[in-house]
Amino acid sequence: MSVGKIEINGKTHEAPLVIGSEGEVALDISKLRASTGMITLDGGFKNTGACTSSITFIDGANGILRYRGYAIEELCEKSNFLEVAKLLVDGELPNSEKLTNFKNQIKKFSSLPDGIKQIIKSFPTNAHPMGVLSSAISAMSGYMESKDYGNLSKDDYDELIPSMMAAVKMIAAYNYRHNKGLEFIDSNNDLNYCSDFINMMFGKVDEDIAEALDVLFILHADHEQNCSATAARVAGSAHANIYASMASGVNALWGPRHGGANQKVIEMLEMIEKDGGDYQKYIEKAKDKSDPFRLMGFGHRVYKNFDPRAKIIKGYCETVLNKLGVKDPTLDIAKGLEEVALKDPYFVERKLYPNVDFYSGIIYRALGIPTNMFTVMFAIGRMPGWIAQWKELLGQGMAISRPRQIYTGSGLREYSNIENR
Ligand code: MLT
Repeated sequence: MSVGKIEINGKTHEAPLVIGSEGEVALDISKLRASTGMITLDGGFKNTGACTSSITFIDGANGILRYRGYAIEELCEKSNFLEVAKLLVDGELPNSEKLTNFKNQIKKFSSLPDGIKQIIKSFPTNAHPMGVLSSAISAMSGYMESKDYGNLSKDDYDELIPSMMAAVKMIAAYNYRHNKGLEFIDSNNDLNYCSDFINMMFGKVDEDIAEALDVLFILHADHEQNCSATAARVAGSAHANIYASMASGVNALWGPRHGGANQKVIEMLEMIEKDGGDYQKYIEKAKDKSDPFRLMGFGHRVYKNFDPRAKIIKGYCETVLNKLGVKDPTLDIAKGLEEVALKDPYFVERKLYPNVDFYSGIIYRALGIPTNMFTVMFAIGRMPGWIAQWKELLGQGMAISRPRQIYTGSGLREYSNIENR
């Protein structure tokens, strides 16, 4: 076994090196504290691996994204969302029998308990859909028999996973109808997953929209140890139930630094459009340190040259808008911003190029999805990824997530608040 050596106060400590299947190297410090009394510190865990995983591989330098070894470009071109979901969760592309069975299992859960519908209806119509989604998913645990989440069987997974996939779609669509003051449209088992979602939302099926959503959901399906997947894994490591764990993912994704960015991008493009569409003016504002304006949808923590998903979505933007006959000035603004940013040394030096959130909002808007629902669309796409990460963690028998800290507060002192006695 290869080892790494750390010298601390003149003493050398060895730790094993873990080499991944794509050549990534980690120093396994799981025994560092026992042997040295020391811990490592890495705010935001940007340089810390939480696990080994065989689900998704990202090569940030070369803009590579693969699900279980399959390139995202090929999956978008040749696969479909439920096949990709099954690939992520099981590790292999399902044969036609397994895929049909998975679809039928999802259809078995094609109605939400009335109590969940009441929870959705109990929210004000201007409530943010991510708060409704998180609440309704958490509440699902009140309707499923309790299980030992440290020892789930195949039958358990075969029930929990399809029910979760079905629930996220129905909750999102019901909440849209509630917010519009419309009657709920129930799931129709004669329709495929995306067409059913469209029908539950708009009361009619549009194959072009369903096809576009299928690709968008594939693009969002997983992204290794991102913030929301980590939140779902942390909850799962405590053996919280699947609904509580997935709701943890939803809550983390809601943040504007994460999944909430797609809503911020379209709000930025709309603001530039309202201000006359002069995107060059906003490029200069973004470069001006004294100006609080920042370009949303540019750059990425992991990708150092381009986000492969943004390239695919950009191409899809034209196709979807042309198919739908939608003329959207924000698309022209987005393309103008991208063109300038990809040439301007300020952005090139800082690796600020469009990421997955930059174009997705334009398509969602063309599909008729309200802006405050864009992150819900991200959550529907990411659900199989969260499930796959959560299932892998349970299958690895991973310890409960319990990071350490370096205390920087006060030393021991005696209580002396006499006046409050
Ligand atoms: C994602 O897809 O989760 C986002 O790109 C964020 C990330 O990977 O950190």
